[in-house]
Amino acid sequence: MRDDKSRIRIFDTTLRDGEQSPGAAMTLEEKLDVAEFLDAMGVDIIEAGFPISSPGDFAAVSEISKLVKNAGVCGLARAGFKDIERAGEAVRGARRPRIHTFISTSPVHMKHKLQMGPNAVLDAVGASVSRARNFTDDVQWSAEDATRTERDFLCRCVELAIRSGATTINIPDTVGYSTPQEYFEIISMLRNRVPNADKVIFSTHCHNDLGLAVANSLAGVLAGARQIECTVNGIGERAGNAALEEIVMALRVRKDLMPYETRVKTPMLSRASKLVSNVTGFPVQYNKAIVGKNAFSHESGIHQDGMLKNVETYEIMRPEDVGVKETSLVLGKLSGRHAFRDKLEAMGYTLDGPAFAEAFKRFKDLADKKKHVFDEDLVALVDDEIVRGHDLIAVENLRVETGTNLLPGCELTLSVDGEDRRVKTTGDGPVDAIFKAIHEIYPHTATLQLFQINAVTEGTDAQATVSVRLEENGRTVTGRGADTDTLVAAAYAYVNALNKLLVKREKQAPEALTVAR
Ligand code: KIV
Ligand code: ZN
Repeated sequence: MRDDKSRIRIFDTTLRDGEQSPGAAMTLEEKLDVAEFLDAMGVDIIEAGFPISSPGDFAAVSEISKLVKNAGVCGLARAGFKDIERAGEAVRGARRPRIHTFISTSPVHMKHKLQMGPNAVLDAVGASVSRARNFTDDVQWSAEDATRTERDFLCRCVELAIRSGATTINIPDTVGYSTPQEYFEIISMLRNRVPNADKVIFSTHCHNDLGLAVANSLAGVLAGARQIECTVNGIGERAGNAALEEIVMALRVRKDLMPYETRVKTPMLSRASKLVSNVTGFPVQYNKAIVGKNAFSHESGIHQDGMLKNVETYEIMRPEDVGVKETSLVLGKLSGRHAFRDKLEAMGYTLDGPAFAEAFKRFKDLADKKKHVFDEDLVALVDDEIVRGHDLIAVENLRVETGTNLLPGCELTLSVDGEDRRVKTTGDGPVDAIFKAIHEIYPHTATLQLFQINAVTEGTDAQATVSVRLEENGRTVTGRGADTDTLVAAAYAYVNALNKLLVKREKQAPEALTVAR
C-alpha cells in the first residue's frame, strides 16, 4: 500500500442494496456465508442490512457483526431516531461498527416522497448524524438522490453532516442518471466548496440505470472520492449497482491512469461471483466483464491464433488474477476420499462430517454418470450441498416417465422431517408433474415465479443447475439444484426453495409459509 491517499475503501452493499433487488432475498445462513467470504476477500466495509426493515435484517446485521473478523460492519438507517437506534443495536457486536444514515435531498424526493421542506431536511441531517454518533464514532451520511439535488443545497447538507460528526459522506446517484463528467464535477465541487471536506472520506454509490455505474464511480475516485460502494455481480435495485469485480479490476489493470489500491484479493473474485449467483439464483450473463463465463474465452480463429502467439494480443489481465483457472479434469470414478478432500481444499472448500460424506457420495454418483468431472462440476456439487445443508424436506427418490404420445408422469418420494412420503402424479410436462407431486406431498400456497436451467459445463452430460423462485406473502426465495439429470435438478431446486421458505418462517414471521393441509 503506497499511502492512505491512494487507498480506495471498498464498501460492499451486496447484502443490503443487492438484496433489495426483487427476487434476491437470502436466508440468514446465506448472508453469513457471503459476509464471511467478503471479509476473507478483503473488502473494507460490509453493509449487512437495514436493521429496522425486518427482524430478519436485524438478525443478519447483528450476526454478521459478531462473525466478521476484519471488515467494518454497517447497518443502514433512515433519519428517524428509531431507525438509528435499531442500527446502533444491530452493529454493537462488530469490531468496527458503522451506522449509515441517509435522507433525500433532491427537490422531487423532498416534495413527493418525504413531503418535507429544505429546512426540515437540514434539521433531520444534523439530528440524525448527531444521534448516530452516540452509538459509534464511524458514521456515514448519504444524500439520497444527490445527483439530482440543487448544488448549493447539497453543499449545505454535506457541511452540516460533517459538522454534526459524519466521517464518511456518500453521494448516491440513486437513479443512475449521472454521467462520468457530471459526477466528477459534483465530487470536485463538494471537496472544494464545503468547509472541512478534507476531514472526511467522500464515497460513491452509483446505480446502473444507464450502464454508467462503474464509469461514474471511477470518475468520483478521480475527483477525490476514496470509498466506492458496490456489489458483487453488480446486483441491486433495478439495473443494479457498480459491480465490485469491475471496479477492483479496472483499478488494478489501469493503474497507469488510476494510481490507487484496494485490499481486495482479486483471485477470489470469481468465487465471490459464483457464491452470490448461487444464493440469489441470479445467473451471471455470459459476457459479463471479469466474471462471465466467456470473459476469458476466445472463439474466433484470428483471436485464437493471436493468443497462441502471445496472450497479450487479446488478454488485458490473466484469468488466474480473478480466480479463473483452466478447466481441469482431475477426479474420476476411481478417486477416493483423500483425493476428493484435497481437491476441495485446493478449491477453497472445507466440508466436515455429514456434509463431506454426502458431498463425496454425490461426487461418486456424478463420476459414475459423467465421462469427465470438471472443477466447475465439483463447485456446483459442493455449493449445492452447502446450500441444501440439513433440510426439513429432502428428495429421496424420483422416477419420471415422459415422451411423445404419452401423458408425462412421475413417482416421487420425499422425506419430510424424517418420514418418507410417496405419490404418483401426471402433468402437462415432466417438470409440471414433479412440481405437482411435491405440492401433493407437501401442500403449500407459494407460487412459482421463475424456473431456469443452466448447464454448468459443456456437453450433453454436463451438470444442469436449475433455479426455482417461489413467492409467498410478498417474500421470495430462490432454490437451486444441480444434477446431470435436469429433472432431478428441478426437483432438488424446488425442494430447496421450499426449505428456504420454511427457514424464513422460523426466522421471520410464523405465517411465512402457509401449509394448506
Ligand atoms: O441508492 C441510494 O441512494 C441508496 C442510499 C440508501 C444510499 O441506496
Ligand atoms: Zn442504492
